[in-house]
Amino acid sequence: MTDTDITTTAGADWAAWQKSWDRQQEWYMPDREERFRIMLDMVEALVGPAPRVLDLACGTGSITARLLARFPEATSTGVDLDPALLAIAEGSFAGDERVSFVTADLKDPDWPTKLLYDSYDAVLTATALHWLHREPLAALYGQVAELVRDGGVFLNADHMIDDSTPRINAAERAQRHARMDQAKADGALDWSEWWQLAAKDPVLAGPTARRFEIYGEHADGDAPSAQWHARVLREKGFGEARPVWCSPSDTLLLALK
Ligand SMILES: C[S@@+](CC[C@H](N)C(=O)[O-])C[C@H]1O[C@@H](n2cnc3c(N)ncnc32)[C@H](O)[C@@H]1O
Repeated sequence: MTDTDITTTAGADWAAWQKSWDRQQEWYMPDREERFRIMLDMVEALVGPAPRVLDLACGTGSITARLLARFPEATSTGVDLDPALLAIAEGSFAGDERVSFVTADLKDPDWPTKLLYDSYDAVLTATALHWLHREPLAALYGQVAELVRDGGVFLNADHMIDDSTPRINAAERAQRHARMDQAKADGALDWSEWWQLAAKDPVLAGPTARRFEIYGEHADGDAPSAQWHARVLREKGFGEARPVWCSPSDTLLLALK
């Protein structure tokens, strides 16, 4: 099935939507699966193969899917605000008692009160916290530090920019965008084309309209450096924090409580 014939009138095809979401995200991050693999390596190394996980800004539940495929004894709660991505997540994991979802705005100071538990072995997030500006992100990191148990971990895979290397950044960006242009010419869907497709799905049309009322096309945020993330996470209560993987544009940052 191609992305363009994914929509049906007989109920949404959740597996097809998951695949289509992955393809769209991989257009931006060809090494996305590598980031997930190292994230789960670090989870296993530090908290073992049966963790209680919070999938922060979970979207369609991409981290949860990879977590459970590798660690069947794990459990996961996904938190997000997007009704369309949450509809795909809920449809995909329906009937799986290891998984639950919570609708919450991570900028709301009370969002942790919506969770079933007040302590997690691992809080995991990917390609999401650049939707927040530094100040709300620092406040969120304080809440995350309270939710992670002593000895537990926080892992954030995201676009993190070092402003002290502007020429390197510009060259890397130009190369990355040239490759994206080529992939688009070969048929890849970008963010806005993907959402146009979701709006055509009879099941996703309503939630998609609501997500545009919440976010518009995309929320505005910052992509501070890995050093900024590590420093703020230590200030907020983590004992250690540093990158455990990086590409020319992205970093996977690990913080240990
Ligand atoms: C690009 S998606 C990534 C989803 C998933 N982690 C993945 O890797 O496929 C970014 C997610 O962050 C969520 N997000 C952004 N700001 C948020 C907020 N303030 N509260 C809750 N979720 C938020 C969006 O709704 C979206 O699902």
